[in-house]
Amino acid sequence: MTQPDFFQADHALIEAALERLLPPENTPPQTIHRAMRYSVFAGGKRIRPILCLEAARVFTGNLDGAVQAGCAVELIHTYSLIHDDLPALDNDDLRRGKPTNHKVFGEAMAILAGDGLLTLAFQVLAEAPIESGRRSRAIAEISAAAGTVNGMVGGQVADVEAGGKQVGAEMLEYIHRSKTAALIRGSIVAGAIAGGAAGNDVERLRRFGDSIGWAFQVVDDILDVEESSAALGKTAGKDQAQQKATYPALYGLEKSRAIAADLESRALRELDAYGERASRLRQVAQFLVARRS
Ligand code: FPP
Ligand code: MG
Repeated sequence: MTQPDFFQADHALIEAALERLLPPENTPPQTIHRAMRYSVFAGGKRIRPILCLEAARVFTGNLDGAVQAGCAVELIHTYSLIHDDLPALDNDDLRRGKPTNHKVFGEAMAILAGDGLLTLAFQVLAEAPIESGRRSRAIAEISAAAGTVNGMVGGQVADVEAGGKQVGAEMLEYIHRSKTAALIRGSIVAGAIAGGAAGNDVERLRRFGDSIGWAFQVVDDILDVEESSAALGKTAGKDQAQQKATYPALYGLEKSRAIAADLESRALRELDAYGERASRLRQVAQFLVARRS
């Protein structure tokens, strides 16, 4: 599936905001700002910020707050990739089609670049042009999503501890929903809140985000089996080599595809209430499941 045509415009908004929000390379200490920028501008798809701003668009035409919140999530996502690639975790050499951060800047600087990005994310959120009550709620959503209780760090802990072991369906679900779906959901819910959503609307977008985020990781597992490193921009076939707990490993490819399709329908049903207003958000969701990289 080719990208929906509005992706390019969304992408441009996000790139310009990230450029403005990251310290320039010549700001001392220069090494860390070079390392942070190297990974942020390595060619990520910007899926999380696009989801954030398209979730806001369901409720408003003023997207500035959601663009900035989405950029904060992209900084958190980029820190997680840098740390995930470190020798102590997945030990990978390739990411976003380039040598990983620690391969270029060394392990110490890669750890610090991740720390710097995570910290900057919360400054960017605190300064986002969102009404202050909504801004606090968006920050709480994103920090919980990135944290240890059913969040990204918690999922990563379970993923590390599951390495090389037989993992059952329940643990696999926990890993995927925490490690990957939580931050995607957090980005969507923060976008909805920044856009003015409240009550049932926030809960609907939360259910949408949980299902589409979960589908995203199931698809990620499938692509690791089916696609080349060149297509993915990261080392393909790594899950099997590292005996990772994945959907294809537990259910096989065909059943995994059916699970992803089912999660996608579940997600899309949540958007029925919004008709045309959710047309772009719906297209992003469909793209996430149909993507090949
Ligand atoms: C690819 O995203 C990334 C994932 C599918 C998430 C995997 C989860 C982690 C690496 C969590 C690591 C956590 C810690 C705490 C180290 P993408 O396809 O959107 O990548 P892109 O941004 O490069 O396009
Ligand atoms: Mg990993």
